[in-house]
Amino acid sequence: MLEASAGKCVTMVNGDLRSAPSHSLSLDLHVHWYKHGDEKDWLMIHEKADVYNEITPQLFSDQFGDSTLALSERQFYLLDTTGSAIATGTAWATSHGKFSGFGRPHWLAVLPQFQRHGVGAMLMSIIWKRLLELGHTRAFLTTSTSRPRAIRLYERFGFRIVNTEE
Ligand SMILES: CC(C)(COP(=O)(O)OP(=O)(O)OC[C@H]1O[C@@H](n2cnc3c(N)ncnc32)[C@H](O)[C@@H]1OP(=O)(O)O)[C@@H](O)C(=O)NCCC(=O)NCCS
Repeated sequence: MLEASAGKCVTMVNGDLRSAPSHSLSLDLHVHWYKHGDEKDWLMIHEKADVYNEITPQLFSDQFGDSTLALSERQFYLLDTTGSAIATGTAWATSHGKFSGFGRPHWLAVLPQFQRHGVGAMLMSIIWKRLLELGHTRAFLTTSTSRPRAIRLYERFGFRIVNTEE
């Protein structure tokens, strides 16, 4: 079910990804890069983790288009020891507007029962590395004032709020 208030839109920027934060990836999770059909896991994780957005297949295609190549380079899932997806993140980018060429941590989510164990930090570390590999040295993201935990996570990775608006 969706909650009533989705808060104000927050834009955050990290102007230099080259000074990477040190974060140990010690959790027993396996990184799986997108393959056709993984949308079902993306939908399942976001349905369970995200109380603000209506999660639909249309939302997935609106956000990521239909390029399997782009998704296979940029979207990943963390699998537990049984092979089940428990979290996802995307090292996205935009080619237009003010943030053209910036990398974009996009649509991070961790299943509720796995939150607060450092999985979100693991998602951010993987995204950071992949953005650098793809040539992005700066990044921006958008989130919401109703997601203080996400904002704190991004701040720990050097992102600073540059704009807050309705
Ligand atoms: C935002 C989100 C991805 C963070 O994932 P997460 O796995 O909980 O993130 P982490 O565990 O790395 O950090 C979360 C908190 O747990 C704490 N933590 C990390 N490891 C811990 C441990 N072993 N023991 C206790 N606490 C721990 C962190 O310090 C952090 O604390 P804080 O919220 O007080 O700053 C997750 O909450 C989520 O999926 N939310 C719903 C969807 C969403 O809002 N996505 C972001 C959209 S912009």
